[in-house]
Amino acid sequence: MKFANQAVIITGASSGMGWELAKVLAREGARVGLTARRRENLVALAEEIRAAGGVAEVEPADVSDREQTAAALKALESRLGPTDVLVANAGVGMPTTVDPVNMAEFETMFRVNVFGVVHAFDAVLPGMLARKRGHIAAVSSMAAYRGLPGEWGYTASKAAVNNLMEGLRVQLRGTGVAVTNICPGFIKTPMTAKNDFHMPFVLEADDAARRMAGALYRKTKVYNFPWQMRGFMWVVARLPDWVIARAMKKYNDNPPWPDKVG
Ligand SMILES: NC(=O)c1ccc[n+]([C@@H]2O[C@H](COP(=O)([O-])OP(=O)(O)OC[C@H]3O[C@@H](n4cnc5c(N)ncnc54)[C@H](OP(=O)(O)O)[C@@H]3O)[C@@H](O)[C@H]2O)c1
Repeated sequence: MKFANQAVIITGASSGMGWELAKVLAREGARVGLTARRRENLVALAEEIRAAGGVAEVEPADVSDREQTAAALKALESRLGPTDVLVANAGVGMPTTVDPVNMAEFETMFRVNVFGVVHAFDAVLPGMLARKRGHIAAVSSMAAYRGLPGEWGYTASKAAVNNLMEGLRVQLRGTGVAVTNICPGFIKTPMTAKNDFHMPFVLEADDAARRMAGALYRKTKVYNFPWQMRGFMWVVARLPDWVIARAMKKYNDNPPWPDKVG
């Protein structure tokens, strides 16, 4: 039981990787606090975890709202005890256009992917610092490693997460609070279900969750997975613009989620 007696809060637990991670951590003994906007999904997950003998509590919130996030995390802590591990996993991804720039989607990505992470940390950090113990983690993305045409809002939001996690990690040295930045490659979740292109080295969400739980247990500073995708992105980050333009032409000519664009 790698997480026995630990209270772990997961944002974005109503779907995808957050959902699977909650199940893995609960199996490993964690009391899990589940938050996201869709209460009915969170309740269904909590019931599944409890039926398997685990402990789960639910408190919906929109992480883009600082007060809502703080209130939800406080409510979860009142039922589960002080947070040992906070996983800021909630995130959204939408294409970004230029004529005009789809500002609403751009702003949503930053409010959820960047501000949402900081709102969640802000809610638990004072307690962790007072206890001199704790662990904060963010689910960023390999997309952080190269700005991509048609995806520059998402890639920039994840680059911001990588950067802030780096600074936080050093700032929190010696405080007893560990920092883990998780950068997945392509994972099969509702977020990627509409992708009609080949996703290299794609993983199932339950597989991803097991790997993420391992990185949390080891308190890995930056966890890029799968390693093949990290190698792929190392190359992608060094490719000339014309290669990227050619590789992503089809995607940009026919963006997925057309309802969300323009
Ligand atoms: N799938 C991939 O290939 C991939 C790769 C790299 C990184 N990631 C990152 O992994 C994380 C999880 O994504 P996923 O693939 O599991 O996608 P997903 O299935 O779409 O899950 C996204 C989660 O975020 C929550 N969320 C979205 N907006 C929110 C808001 N305003 N407030 C609170 N919660 C919100 C959603 O819950 P509600 O809608 O109920 O609020 C949902 O639980 C994201 O940060 C994503 O960027 C995904």
